[in-house]
Amino acid sequence: MKAEWETRLPEAHAGQGKKYLTVALPKGRLGEKVYGRFAAAGYPCPELLSESRKLIFENEELAVRYFWAKPSDVAIYVERGAADIGVAGKDILLEYEPDVYELADLETGRCRMCVAAPEGFAPDDRRTLRVATKFGRIARAHYAKKGRDIDIIHLNGSIEIAPIIGLSDVIVDIVETGTTLRENHLEVLETIVPLSARLIANRASYFFRKEQMDRIASGLSGKD
Ligand code: PRP
Repeated sequence: MKAEWETRLPEAHAGQGKKYLTVALPKGRLGEKVYGRFAAAGYPCPELLSESRKLIFENEELAVRYFWAKPSDVAIYVERGAADIGVAGKDILLEYEPDVYELADLETGRCRMCVAAPEGFAPDDRRTLRVATKFGRIARAHYAKKGRDIDIIHLNGSIEIAPIIGLSDVIVDIVETGTTLRENHLEVLETIVPLSARLIANRASYFFRKEQMDRIASGLSGKD
């Protein structure tokens, strides 16, 4: 079945009737690394790494089509079937709970979701804790388990600024190397969950292409 957007593309872009496997990759370093694994697993599309502003690339012979998406949007494309498979961070899967299959832990893009605060921060348990984050669901679930009252302050980036200028008491955010925290005199109070990149699949696509997707999943696992 053609994805809805395919019906709006000129025939040359619509795979000329071929049953293309459409892959959503996260734009950036992680996506490029993961594409290397797809290529090694038998799905190369060299044009993908060209310095152009093009977003969709096809290898007609192999009937595979890749596109670059904002990392936080990959799961949306996959959930709605505009992509058959994609690569998304576990943080996005936990936060948005998209209705997709998680086929493999790619064991790359490793980082962790943490609670952090200014160095020496002493929480006052009698007060509602102000938590700045992009990840409201993860933060809420974490503090609900502890029975702690919190006020979520939703921000879209540079979360580390919030406790420094007094917008929040703590942050819930991704820590990779720890450099951002260190350089802003913040420290990790708790690790909520370890994170890494996951291969995800649209549920209906997986039903029809199980064998191919399982092969890709094992071809992609843990290899850099
Ligand atoms: C992420 C995260 C931290 C930083 C952590 O931000 O939100 O700010 O990386 O990495 P580090 O531990 O290696 O310093 P990102 O660069 O995605 O931008 P953002 O601030 O807009 O979220």
